[in-house]
Amino acid sequence: MPTLTLDTLKEKLRDWKAIAIAKHANPVLGEGNPHATILFIGEAPGEQEDRQGRPFVGPAGKFLDELLASIGLKQEDVYISNVVKFRPPGNRDPTPEEKDACMPWLKMEIALIKPKVIVPLGRHALGHFFQKLSITNAHGKPQKLTDDVTVFPIYHPAAALHNGNLRQSLFDDFKALKQFLEERGKKT
Ligand code: URA
Repeated sequence: MPTLTLDTLKEKLRDWKAIAIAKHANPVLGEGNPHATILFIGEAPGEQEDRQGRPFVGPAGKFLDELLASIGLKQEDVYISNVVKFRPPGNRDPTPEEKDACMPWLKMEIALIKPKVIVPLGRHALGHFFQKLSITNAHGKPQKLTDDVTVFPIYHPAAALHNGNLRQSLFDDFKALKQFLEERGKKT
């Protein structure tokens, strides 16, 4: 069996039609630094992402770029993916079935990248790791996943495009993430 890499994963995703949205939308796997320490996980591709077959290239992606830049990072420094790999029609919320069906893809990405810090952006990605935590209470607070891996939940950048009050909260959480990474760096 050929060794699994992010490239072979991308190829396999192209042929995967196990859910209805996979038959009508373009596959969007994660992108970025394959050796990244930090993995960001969004919800599902939007219109621009579907068109380009790339994650976070639309308005939410532009804001994510701004947030990353505020702590001295670029998309290429980190790895960015989504819970669901295909755009739900009209950008509706992904269903539990769609999230479950796509889970193995995200698990394989995590297994290949081996990030130390995972940043779920919004409630769908947070729910992948901690079903009982709410993003409203957990955002900005590191949660231990394993001895090696910490989950650092943050609101989804798209939420701030609709609710201006969340904008500052996102910048504050990114600042807290930077501090967390610096503290963590001192321990390794
Ligand atoms: N929103 C997401 O959750 N993911 C994307 O890739 C783009 C917008």
